Amino acid sequence: MTTILVTGATGTLGRQVAERLRTEGADVRGLSRRSPSYAVDLRDGRGLDAAVDGVDTIVHCASSPRGGDDRAAGFLIEAAQRAGVPHLVYISIVGVDRVPLRYYAAKRRVERMIEDSGVGATIQRTTQFHDLVLSVVSGAAKLPVLPVPAGVSVQPVDSGEVADRLAALALGAPAGRVPDLGGPEVREFSALAGAYLRATGRKRRVVPVRLAGKAYAGFRSGGHLSPEHAVGTVTFEEFLARRHRRAG
Ligand SMILES: NC(=O)c1ccc[n+]([C@@H]2O[C@H](COP(=O)([O-])OP(=O)(O)OC[C@H]3O[C@@H](n4cnc5c(N)ncnc54)[C@H](OP(=O)(O)O)[C@@H]3O)[C@@H](O)[C@H]2O)c1
Repeated sequence: MTTILVTGATGTLGRQVAERLRTEGADVRGLSRRSPSYAVDLRDGRGLDAAVDGVDTIVHCASSPRGGDDRAAGFLIEAAQRAGVPHLVYISIVGVDRVPLRYYAAKRRVERMIEDSGVGATIQRTTQFHDLVLSVVSGAAKLPVLPVPAGVSVQPVDSGEVADRLAALALGAPAGRVPDLGGPEVREFSALAGAYLRATGRKRRVVPVRLAGKAYAGFRSGGHLSPEHAVGTVTFEEFLARRHRRAG
């Protein structure tokens, strides 16, 4: 039986990757700080050797935009090397090399660390998940008007489709950097905010706001988009409708 360690297995993506791999018959270990079975803080690495012992593949989904991803990856790679793990799958973001955001720079460094580690690697970049857009827009909708970044488009993808792809990659051989996975449509942020308001029956004026800084300029110029890889099929509206059905 294939044994697979999924880091970040309590998160939006990791949970679904673990589910799919279990359905495929893999012996799945789920790791995160709050995991009931492999409770490890990757930023100190304690407990990692036991988690990677005898593992065929690691799917590295754990991440924190607040920082520490490269430190965490360092411990994970060292543990994988010690245990002779043959395959490490990493989920990254389209545009980590184009949009000057601190979080993206850390993810780019992690890509390089994995590529240079000598461990068999597969790196999948995707665009933003629908879940992230929903969380940004629903947070902004708590205000009397709904501010959105002016002139920014997004190409959100369904995290379930990303999980399908990662599970398939995890069950295959190391493939290096694979083609990007983008959502089906590039949409103005304001249009996605409008879709959210329609789906939830809320009334707010959507107000585009111009922001300062190089990261905003990077997003405005579409560094995070991958229209040539619009292979996801679930639109933001379909994602919202599904959520609504599940909640109701
Ligand atoms: N969200 C997006 O739009 C998007 C788009 C493209 C790529 N990605 C990438 O996909 C991955 C998963 O994203 P997500 O949205 O599913 O994230 P998420 O829901 O925030 O989940 C993050 C996971 O990482 C774990 N974690 C965080 N810090 C940790 C630490 N120090 N040690 C051990 N575990 C830790 C968390 O669990 P605990 O809190 O229990 O530790 C959680 O299980 C990330 O690498 C992200 O960069 C995300």
